[in-house]
Amino acid sequence: MTNTAKASAVMEPPLLEVAQPAKRKKQLRGVSPISKIYENNKASSFTENMEQLQKSFDYASNADANWTYPELSLLYGSSIYEAASEAQKRALNHIYWVCFYNYVMGGEITTMVANQICCGAFYPIGGYEVVCHSLDLETSQERTHVEAFRNIGRVTEKALFGETIFERPMPNYLDASHTKPQVQGRGPLSKIPLMSLQSVLGQSPFVASQYFVARGLRNIQAKVKEYQHSAYGKELENAGKPVPAPTLISHNHCFDEGYHTATSKFISHEIYRDFKQPNAFEKLTVNAMVRSIQFSMNELSVTVPGIFSQDEQYFSTIYKMLQKPLFGMSSQEALNEMGKAYCQEHEGYHVAARYHARALAKNTEFVQDLDHLADFNRELKIMSTASIEKAIRANTAAFRRFRKKTVKAEGKSYRG
Ligand SMILES: [Fe+2]
Ligand SMILES: [Fe+2]
Repeated sequence: MTNTAKASAVMEPPLLEVAQPAKRKKQLRGVSPISKIYENNKASSFTENMEQLQKSFDYASNADANWTYPELSLLYGSSIYEAASEAQKRALNHIYWVCFYNYVMGGEITTMVANQICCGAFYPIGGYEVVCHSLDLETSQERTHVEAFRNIGRVTEKALFGETIFERPMPNYLDASHTKPQVQGRGPLSKIPLMSLQSVLGQSPFVASQYFVARGLRNIQAKVKEYQHSAYGKELENAGKPVPAPTLISHNHCFDEGYHTATSKFISHEIYRDFKQPNAFEKLTVNAMVRSIQFSMNELSVTVPGIFSQDEQYFSTIYKMLQKPLFGMSSQEALNEMGKAYCQEHEGYHVAARYHARALAKNTEFVQDLDHLADFNRELKIMSTASIEKAIRANTAAFRRFRKKTVKAEGKSYRG
């Protein structure tokens, strides 16, 4: 190679589309719809809108309105919520938004890495470059999404409490995949199956394609709630009222995620047919992955109605929040009120159950035609074990432990 040739090669911009010859003619099922989704996603400006909105966010200008429907408020339906002033109810609605996205961002951080690992299995086959480009774009969008959620959350908490008490420390991709936003990190043993799964994802095109079943199930359950935030914004707009910035962020995120959900659907339901029949190990891995996703959706929360996670993780934070000047409770009042909110049935439990039923119905529709899934996965039998009775039973036992520990730690003697 001459010096001139070397110089021009350096000056040339790198080619992004390196088309590898497809090894089999029948491949590329589902690639054409993904090309379309990719082009539309690239042309859209939802991510950019989110970035602008979060950068110019100040709490005071958005404090006077709810950010989503009232039933999507922290502790909705409990006696704490019922006794709250209008300003306190709005604050509970705003903190709901913060906690909802603390929950959502776990999946987004996991996806940033899993998308890339799956490309490791798709790219070498040839013919799937556009799928990889589409997943690259999604990954960069997720970073902007997470930054927006974290920034709005931080500013809101500081304005309401003078400090951050619900903020989720930025997890790594393994810690992010567990769905208890207030719990830091996974135990070392629980990371081992996940690390093994990641290594299979990067090598088996079939298993990689079916990661998008798991992702799709999580996409759909989030969409069931986020669609409500977006619809609430639309209602405000139609009534000629200003739409708060966090509601607009939800609205834009809902649209970005619409592309991601469609991608999950095409990869998991169409592209997998291009690959050779899965062996027993691949089928087992996919079923284990979907089974574990089901376990992440078989709980109801009344702290954050609509998220599918245990309430116990929130006890210490709620206890702290109730003693902040915004609520001004004594420690005994806070414990008594929490006892009623968690251990007695109220409207919040029914709201939580309604969102779960909607997510279960949509998720069942999503997996019903995947024949390689075992019955307990295709019928989402584990997810469907969530119930009001189960949640009250778990909360009652957990709250008894929390109360005992708190009273002991504070050296006080409370009754109630
Ligand atoms: Fe996102
Ligand atoms: Fe996404």
